[in-house]
Amino acid sequence: ESGKLWGGRFVGAVDPIMEKFNSSIAYDRHLWEVDVQGSKAYSRGLEKAGLLTKAEMDQILHGLDKVAEEWAQGTFKLSPNDEDIHTANERRLKELIGETAGKLHTGRSRNDQVVTDLRLWMRQNCSKLSTLLWELIRTMVDRAEAERDVLFPGYTHLQRAQPIRWSHWILSHAVALTRDSERLLEVQKRVNVLPLGSGAIAGNPLGVDRELLQAELNFGAITLNSMDATSERDFVAEFLFWASLCMTHLSRMAEDLILYGTKEFSFVQLSDAYSTGSSLMPQKKNPDSLELIRSKAGRVFGRCAGLLMTLKGLPSTYNKDLQEDKEAVFEVSDTMSAVLQVATGVISTLQIHRENMARALSPDMLATDLAYYLVRKGMPFRQAHEASGKAVFMAETKGVALNQLSLKELQTISPLFSGDVSHVWDYGHSVEQYAALGGTARASVDWQIGQSHQHPAIS
Ligand code: ARG
Repeated sequence: ESGKLWGGRFVGAVDPIMEKFNSSIAYDRHLWEVDVQGSKAYSRGLEKAGLLTKAEMDQILHGLDKVAEEWAQGTFKLSPNDEDIHTANERRLKELIGETAGKLHTGRSRNDQVVTDLRLWMRQNCSKLSTLLWELIRTMVDRAEAERDVLFPGYTHLQRAQPIRWSHWILSHAVALTRDSERLLEVQKRVNVLPLGSGAIAGNPLGVDRELLQAELNFGAITLNSMDATSERDFVAEFLFWASLCMTHLSRMAEDLILYGTKEFSFVQLSDAYSTGSSLMPQKKNPDSLELIRSKAGRVFGRCAGLLMTLKGLPSTYNKDLQEDKEAVFEVSDTMSAVLQVATGVISTLQIHRENMARALSPDMLATDLAYYLVRKGMPFRQAHEASGKAVFMAETKGVALNQLSLKELQTISPLFSGDVSHVWDYGHSVEQYAALGGTARASVDWQIGQSHQHPAIS
């Protein structure tokens, strides 16, 4: 007896190196609870199909509860032969209740079992991540609401572009995360499909009622094809892509904040709670939280690309390659959970320097508005752009700010300039012009805040 669940046809022993190489218990032990949950549902299915008596089912259910209890209390002892969570739990069940345990796996394969477990685990974890993501979005939107009258420079190409509301910047990142929140709900829908009852490849020959299993485990749907069900990992790939895109957004926000936190910008200051110092330079306060958020994106992308490479070109149905899906899911889930909480902390404790933000606004950023001023006087935009460009050139040549040009000087460029051009040089007036939906005017920012307050799952 090899002591393995599949030992019947084996005579020789497995090389210890191979034993270790093959084993997944070190990480799939995280699935202990969902594995028990899946087995309990399956034993109910077996009873209904007449493959277990009521007494046998009760014995199995009771034994499985004991197994779960041991895991929960940290007293579950792994044996060297436990290659994965499924074999470990079944081995322990047999020790606890005897031979009846051997009936639990009737018609089931680890192929449908493992993917059921993973879906159950991810379903739970995705709702946790969904809550954390929503907390971050809410923190950002609250901040946008509280600070909507703060103006600062908006950049394109990292060059000063146009004055915007600070809230408009916050919301630009929050709305990206709102899409991630919606996307996660979509992923959850496709995670929430029951593969149990697919067997190893061909399905279940013993009349197990999959609708009963679905109801027991509260799945939204049942997989359509047993070959596909046991080998597709689309839901894992989608989850990893969701995480990758979310990290793209968070890393971009982190990068902006790192930049805005430099002495050169001095727009924001990171709380001490999310910074660290230098072992050499006493004056340093480094934005490690933001740098780590930025860098974790790379790790998450790597997991996503890695899984797709594993899946690509696999022959039909289950292959052991698929065992490698779980570390990606666990690592990315942990990373996302940490990143979302740290990001929420960073945003809620961030200090902003309003005066520095205001001081960084410069009249050249109003050159576009100067062109629009002429447009409002009837000039075609292309000519207005040219005229405003001439004004910028004139100011640069004279070595003065754009708003220092006299009305007379401006009138040498266009006779349409008159006394009311002075309004153009007011930054508050500038942002209020951008009142179309989605713009940086107060009303439009309020509209964005109103839209972003609605949770996609609830709306
Ligand atoms: N530990 C395996 C995994 O994670 C369980 C499925 C094994 N199935 C098999 N036929 N060897 O994928």
